Amino acid sequence: MDEQRLVADASVELASGTVMPILGLGTWQASGRSAFDAVLYALEAGYRHIDTATAYGNEERVGQAVAESGVPREHVFVTTKLPPSRAGRERETLAESLGALGFDYVDLWLIHWPPSGRSRPDVWERLLELQADGLAREVGVSNYSIRQLDELERATGRLPAVNQIEWSPALFERDVLEEHRSRGVQLEGYSPLKTMNLRDPRLVRIAEEHRVTPAQVILRWHLEHRIVAIPKSTNAERIAENAALFGFELTRPDIEQLDTISDSRRA
Ligand code: A2P
Repeated sequence: MDEQRLVADASVELASGTVMPILGLGTWQASGRSAFDAVLYALEAGYRHIDTATAYGNEERVGQAVAESGVPREHVFVTTKLPPSRAGRERETLAESLGALGFDYVDLWLIHWPPSGRSRPDVWERLLELQADGLAREVGVSNYSIRQLDELERATGRLPAVNQIEWSPALFERDVLEEHRSRGVQLEGYSPLKTMNLRDPRLVRIAEEHRVTPAQVILRWHLEHRIVAIPKSTNAERIAENAALFGFELTRPDIEQLDTISDSRRA
């Protein structure tokens, strides 16, 4: 199987059975022509998952690139997010996202941050309603704590399909991963590269052993843990590099070593 096909097919299954590609392209701080080009490069390289947000201001470019890529809409998993400042205006905000993207549904819609630091089950309830209306295949949250996930479930009986949080070996916390897993909430990690020192000697040694780059080791580590990763790049070579993760495997000792790079920054 060729590399593009491997990237496209690598996925996790959400609690409902929806298939979510395990590798996506992050688009924070990508705008204009460079956002459009990045999405096109990524789709050519085999990515089938693009992460955007109302707050990124690039949904229109993302939608144009998906439309012009030649990849059928239903083969691309697109996430966008409700800004916390739009709590109370959920339907209007999703309609605006869909208009900008040129789509009639998104694959995943997230509450971008807990509004004013609170879980807001009332907002979550409205995401569930919009999902029931067919406007989002899956709904979830971002930057929520485990306690806040539980508050949503207590109030509505429904857990988010996904919690997107900052994640990398430097931020690894086994209990956080296990708390998500035991609830059936898929952990999706953002900023996998920015939160790391790519020159860390432990990382460089593992990369040299496998003849890959430190960035590829970090992203492969996410895959080994079944964590969805959305590295951001607007550079064609780095977009391709970040998807070339299927020609090597990390060993158990490699993974254990990477797990201990955690510097407890989250604490
Ligand atoms: P660029 O867009 O110029 O490629 P994160 O996804 O962790 O937030 O990281 C994004 C940052 O990491 C961006 O500045 C991006 O820059 C850079 N980056 C993306 N891929 C790689 C890579 N393979 N090696 C080094 N830096 C990378």
